[in-house]
Amino acid sequence: MGLANEAVKMVQVSNANRADLGPALEKGNILFFSQTPFELSSHGRQALLSIAEVPGAHHKNIAFKPRAQKITGLSHVPANARGAVENALKSYSEWAIHFVAGLLPAYAHGWQVDYASFRPVEEENRDLPWKKRNDLIHTDAFPSRPTHGGLILRFFTNLNPSQDRVWVVGRPFAAIAPEHAVTAGLLKFAAQAHSPLRRAWSAVLPAARSAGLPVTDRSPYDRFMLAFHDYLKANAEFQNNCPKYQFRFPPGSSWMVFTDIVPHSVISGQYALEQTFIVSPETLSSRAHAPISILESISGTSLAQKAAFAR
Ligand SMILES: [Fe+2]
Repeated sequence: MGLANEAVKMVQVSNANRADLGPALEKGNILFFSQTPFELSSHGRQALLSIAEVPGAHHKNIAFKPRAQKITGLSHVPANARGAVENALKSYSEWAIHFVAGLLPAYAHGWQVDYASFRPVEEENRDLPWKKRNDLIHTDAFPSRPTHGGLILRFFTNLNPSQDRVWVVGRPFAAIAPEHAVTAGLLKFAAQAHSPLRRAWSAVLPAARSAGLPVTDRSPYDRFMLAFHDYLKANAEFQNNCPKYQFRFPPGSSWMVFTDIVPHSVISGQYALEQTFIVSPETLSSRAHAPISILESISGTSLAQKAAFAR
């Protein structure tokens, strides 16, 4: 297909390459900022770093939903620390949205701002069920938030004062999809695009939503991407033998990547901040780089309605 770099590279962002950041991301590279140009207040930073010392509190991510201005995952955080944690995550989210919009204005034009999160857990030796394991290489897909072809762009910051965050990534989606998408069930999901059941479901969805029912409208694309996440994690041959690239993100650094284009795993690290954006394929430097385009070309089927992304 000729779209993928065989190797995933870390691209240091500078004034000289600002115009090329979109294409670099879309080809499956990681944009890297050795020093994050933002600092939390020392009070906020301390509040986030102290969460690990609270029994039970460090098992969950804390999420901030910018559009609703709501925070979740604070139930174990002592009441007197919640305000500081919320303010810290909120100010990081506001800054990250502003910063990434400045770097990639074309994306910002059509993106949906998704959640921000704080990850207080040490990733090394976590005891998790296989589907939730971060140390297995996977592409991201959100069960509760279908993207209808939108891409998942994530901006991360290592808040740890002394420890690197270590990732291992595989070759980008354009390189692995031709080899694995059909085995992972692409044609079954593509067939659903034309099934009478799917059409009937689409027809009743608006009424179900307006009646207040908690329905999730997943396109065939979303169903495939959820299945592909599980397929990669469960595939021992892929996990053991796929070409791998290791990246270390030092304390204070930030990095940005399409986590559905770049299969990734987190090997170790504690205390990361992150802001997610759902980027419209129409705003990419080339729509051909989007996983949905690659899958549509392999399956010969349209896998999501364009209009659905706008919600
Ligand atoms: Fe992930």
